[in-house]
Amino acid sequence: MWIYTKRFQHPVDVKKTDLALAKNILTQFGGPDGELAASMRYLSQRYTMPTGKTKALLTDIGTEELAHMEMVSALVYQLTVDADPEEIEGSAFAPYYAIHGKGIYPAASTGEPFTAAYFQSTNDLKANLHEDMAAEQKARAAYENLMNLTDDPAVLDVLGWLREREVVHFQRFGEALTDLYDQLDNKRSFHIDNRDNEIIRPNKDINLTTNCADFNNMLD
Ligand SMILES: [Fe+2]
Repeated sequence: MWIYTKRFQHPVDVKKTDLALAKNILTQFGGPDGELAASMRYLSQRYTMPTGKTKALLTDIGTEELAHMEMVSALVYQLTVDADPEEIEGSAFAPYYAIHGKGIYPAASTGEPFTAAYFQSTNDLKANLHEDMAAEQKARAAYENLMNLTDDPAVLDVLGWLREREVVHFQRFGEALTDLYDQLDNKRSFHIDNRDNEIIRPNKDINLTTNCADFNNMLD
């Protein structure tokens, strides 16, 4: 379960309207490298993670991405809420306004609505963690691109903070991947079955000699 805390993870307080910027920032809500995709990716992948630590990591980061989604949505709202129709007419925000008004809808800056096809969730822990690390780098790059599109200090503060969190998440997924490879190297403690990637703790039913070869196969 989740408990909602009625405050932002980092303050969002933008006063100046910027319609074009709002349309671009929207992509970090519902675009391919946005916070909705990140959150759904990690909260979906966590079930087949092999250890309590990796399950907790994905739960923690997936939850934090929900808080980031809230911040991005607030940014878009604050950048558009005071705009009047004359201001919107002819702006980059007009096509979005025609459908959604000033409502916050998960879409890319290029207009495509959010799709779960932006992420994958498999039972292959190595595939998941590599995807997660790449996703964090793409999100970092997207925030840097957005920072190039504004000089509003209030917006830059939020975008810069969100960018930093992507770097932290990348590091944490990298540590999890290193842990995983360490476990694969520890032939006395773990076995990975090539058929289902499930880590099985040794017991009397497992032939460790045979399983050592399987470890090495998994490391290719
Ligand atoms: Fe992230």
